[in-house]
Amino acid sequence: MNIKQNINNISTPFYYYDIDLLKTTLDVVFKESSKYGYNVHYAIKANANTKILKIIRDYNIGADCVSGNEITKAIEVGFNSDKIVFAGVGKSDKEIITAIDNNIFCFNCESVPELEIINKLAAQKEKIVHIALRLNPNIDPHTHKYITTGLEENKFGINLWDIDTVLNRISELKNLKLCGIHFHIGSQITDLNVYKNLSLKVNEINSLFQKKGIVPEHINLGGGLGIDYDNPGKNNIPDFKAYFEIYNSNLKLLPNQKVHFELGRSIVAQCGNLITKVLYVKEGLNKKFVIVDAGMTELIRSALYNAHHSIENLSSNYDKEKYDVVGPICESSDFFAKDIMLPKCTRNDIIAIRSAGAYGQVMSSQYNLRDLAKAYYSDELD
Ligand code: LLP
Repeated sequence: MNIKQNINNISTPFYYYDIDLLKTTLDVVFKESSKYGYNVHYAIKANANTKILKIIRDYNIGADCVSGNEITKAIEVGFNSDKIVFAGVGKSDKEIITAIDNNIFCFNCESVPELEIINKLAAQKEKIVHIALRLNPNIDPHTHKYITTGLEENKFGINLWDIDTVLNRISELKNLKLCGIHFHIGSQITDLNVYKNLSLKVNEINSLFQKKGIVPEHINLGGGLGIDYDNPGKNNIPDFKAYFEIYNSNLKLLPNQKVHFELGRSIVAQCGNLITKVLYVKEGLNKKFVIVDAGMTELIRSALYNAHHSIENLSSNYDKEKYDVVGPICESSDFFAKDIMLPKCTRNDIIAIRSAGAYGQVMSSQYNLRDLAKAYYSDELD
């Protein structure tokens, strides 16, 4: 990894964002999605850092929010409210009111009780709000079970056999306007065939709606495009060209239907790195532990999903040795990697944990009363 600046004087751990890479990634997203007139909403949950959000906003991208606070933040940093979608299986009344008051583009709804509450709150405000139904297409995304969301056994979405009941109820709810259908089947999906399967299923559902006399104006396909955690240097921009192309060649749209995406990880993951320092190298039984000053409080993905992040020692050119890289938190799950080869590590070596821009800083906690890690940006350091 190439950090141009002298970072030795910055206290670790900290997040370091490569702003050039973020902008190049956004250029590619814009170029490839525009070819087909697709609308992209950035999934704020992946990284809600203000500076990152402002950069993304400048690409005329919408926002995908999953809480009232994300909606407020999106508007504060300048996303247009008419490009905000609001998802989530458990929207609270307060959050729904925030969304209604801000006249967002669309609620992605997941159950009849939720539709009823949105209708009631919209009626109190004398407004008609746009909703899309989040449908469960029962497609296996071939990803980690904790980030799989489109199977019938998951808590998300409305199952296909319930569509008639839901549509009947919606016809009675006068403050809702059904304007679309929504899908999100999982995250970190690297098998592009999954998107083909989703497209084919969406086509079926689309004709089912058409037979009922409904043409959903907006088809939202969610997010999920995976990134290369193994080779962040070589593959630092996901293959957006192939991603949008596969949808374009498989989706059968009816006239005037518009397509939307909610991309999170693929936009921000590779521009972020967690920078940490070696505190101690400890000999264990048949093992060597590199104990660093970052832990699951800064990046919880390995502890939570056994996720792999590429790790580099930026200070050492020595021969490689085998290590477990672990954090200082009082939990055995507080590790970043097991049995990996790294150039010989010694105290104060600087270690970069790569591909940490998505679901990294935003999922940090102050467990053990630790300080929150600060963020630094390639265009601000000299
Ligand atoms: N839309 C909806 C409805 C979602 O639930 C998500 C992510 C996205 C869009 C964005 O998906 P992406 O493009 O980032 O894959 N913390 C986990 C990932 C959780 C994803 C939750 N939903 C991780 O660190 O891998």
